Amino acid sequence: MSELLAGKTALVLGVANRWSIAYAISSAFVREGASLILTYQGERQRATVEELGGELKASKVLNCDVTKPEEVESLVASLREAPGKIDAVVHSIAFANRDDLSRPFLETSRDGFLLALEVSAYSLVTVARAVAPLMSNGGSVTTLTYLGSTRVVQNYNVMGVAKAALEASVRYLASDLGPRNIRVNAISAGPIKTASARGIKDFSKVLDSVASLAPLRRNTDPSEVADAAVFLASDLGRGVTGNVVFVDAGFQIVGIGLSE
Ligand SMILES: NC(=O)c1ccc[n+]([C@@H]2O[C@H](COP(=O)([O-])OP(=O)(O)OC[C@H]3O[C@@H](n4cnc5c(N)ncnc54)[C@H](O)[C@@H]3O)[C@@H](O)[C@H]2O)c1
Repeated sequence: MSELLAGKTALVLGVANRWSIAYAISSAFVREGASLILTYQGERQRATVEELGGELKASKVLNCDVTKPEEVESLVASLREAPGKIDAVVHSIAFANRDDLSRPFLETSRDGFLLALEVSAYSLVTVARAVAPLMSNGGSVTTLTYLGSTRVVQNYNVMGVAKAALEASVRYLASDLGPRNIRVNAISAGPIKTASARGIKDFSKVLDSVASLAPLRRNTDPSEVADAAVFLASDLGRGVTGNVVFVDAGFQIVGIGLSE
């Protein structure tokens, strides 16, 4: 079968390590023939992401903390120099204070709320606005979300509110960018053990619960999320925009499930 992303250049934000969902997506993109550019969040991540970028033959590995406008600007300046054109963007970024993912949502501080919303939702707007001028042949922007945006998931708290804002942002961005043939979608992934997920209190109980109740009776594998990201970034996804695509072993359809 021919490669689905041959000739396309993809910018992937959010690889922290080998367990990151963005890493699984990057690997699948390379498998499908894409040329890859990765970003890392500050010096602390630099060596790891450069090493992973080397394995994936990324053409560039660039610094970008999405809350720092000057770093977003210098990212875009570097992209403009080379490769000059971007076809696909993956935004796989979120953050909330650990305290806010363990105590009642009612206790969320103003600072914690604003921080979660800035990093996890507004950054999609920042990135889309910055990169869209480089998507001169149209393209695809994909972000990662979670069911906690529309349902109460214990301890997900302010991150659920941020994901609700993120999903609404997907729809408004899809509307603004559609006339330029730029599609904007979210993948709602089932729970996956990553560094970020470990920050949520009792996360391993969530994994157990999902595996026993999801129609497929198992958890989500990062490679499944990655293959959906390939679809959205490829020409196969050309008619899909403003959507939230669930890759969660079907858990989102469960009303009342009785654990076996
Ligand atoms: N793991 C899950 O169960 C799950 C499920 C659904 C959705 N998601 C979403 O997937 C995305 C990726 O998370 P992950 O689980 O792979 O964890 P991860 O910790 O591997 O990735 C999170 C990334 O966000 C980056 N980040 C945080 N603040 C940033 C900033 N200011 N600037 C730039 N980058 C910043 C981190 O550096 C890291 O690379 C997140 O949006 C997360 O909410 C995760």
